[in-house]
Amino acid sequence: MSRKPVLTVTLNPALDVTYDVDEFVLGQTHRPRSMSVRAGGKGVNVARVLAGLGESVVASGLAGGATGRSIVDHLEQAGIPASFTWIEGESRRTVVIAERDRATGIWETGPVVTAAEWATFLDGFPALISTASVVVLSGSVPPGLPADAYAPLVQAAAANGVQVILDAEGPALHHGLAANPTLVKPNADELADAVGTEVDTPERALAAAHRLRAERPTVVVASLGHQGLVAATCRRDYVVTPPIRVPGNATGAGDALVAALARGLARGTAWPDMLADAVGVSGGAVAAPVAGESRIDIARHITDRAIVRAIEHDADQGSQCDHASCRNS
Ligand SMILES: Nc1ncnc2c1ncn2[C@@H]1O[C@H](COP(=O)(O)OP(=O)(O)OP(=O)(O)O)[C@@H](O)[C@H]1O
Ligand SMILES: [Mg+2]
Repeated sequence: MSRKPVLTVTLNPALDVTYDVDEFVLGQTHRPRSMSVRAGGKGVNVARVLAGLGESVVASGLAGGATGRSIVDHLEQAGIPASFTWIEGESRRTVVIAERDRATGIWETGPVVTAAEWATFLDGFPALISTASVVVLSGSVPPGLPADAYAPLVQAAAANGVQVILDAEGPALHHGLAANPTLVKPNADELADAVGTEVDTPERALAAAHRLRAERPTVVVASLGHQGLVAATCRRDYVVTPPIRVPGNATGAGDALVAALARGLARGTAWPDMLADAVGVSGGAVAAPVAGESRIDIARHITDRAIVRAIEHDADQGSQCDHASCRNS
């Protein structure tokens, strides 16, 4: 059965350039052993993971200049349909200089988006979401846009009956959350920052997740690195622990986790299975060398052995359990 695609939104995508060198020495010229170029930015990584899982996905956002063109070309070469709004400024590049066990990054800020360009994106957004099963809003809000830029996107999706995952931090998370997305996915630092408490154990993460939810319909899934995740839904809490600590590169593991959650919401998968899948796919991403990929063999191994603990709690306000995200809780 063909399913509607997941729509990812990346307002500040990047062309990720990685140079592999034996040793990086400050002040010297280097000839890289090898290099790779790929489309990046958090929402783009989510789209690439979904495509790798064989899921139908469309990547959208804002792109500009020759770098924006390259980002879209890379996506299309990977078989990912791209529907970006064109802006005057040049999309950003990120440069990583990778040694055997160390990486140095140079992150461009990205172009300033004008009010007119943002208005064009907002005008086109209802048409984009009309064909989507789930919308994923990931990453920082680019220069020029208001801190609450995600709020109208969350509202437009809700008005069209489309579920929304928000993966953002700071003011973008705060304002986006106020519009009641289906699910938010902070990591431990982002959650600690949002509620002003320490988040160093699953128990503390659950307490913080409840404070962040604050009687909202939004499900909070907090990722805790190698400790796995906790989730607070309106009827139950979950603590999901991977069976192994995977060695590797955890950058982009959160994006892989979001990809699995989007797939689960699109399918209406029950929370325990969805969360075990999310821990598996994100663990598989740690084992993959670059962000935007997940090792399927490792993912399956982890998902099959993940320890899922469900904790009942009193249901929140009955009306708030009508939310789409609670149908499978
Ligand atoms: N070393 C590890 N071993 C097993 N699983 C891991 C490991 N590190 C991360 N994970 C999995 O990846 C998920 C996401 O990791 P993390 O909390 O670091 O995300 P993040 O900080 O949002 O990452 P990013 O924003 O770079 O994509 C965790 O919830 C866990 O399931
Ligand atoms: Mg993250």
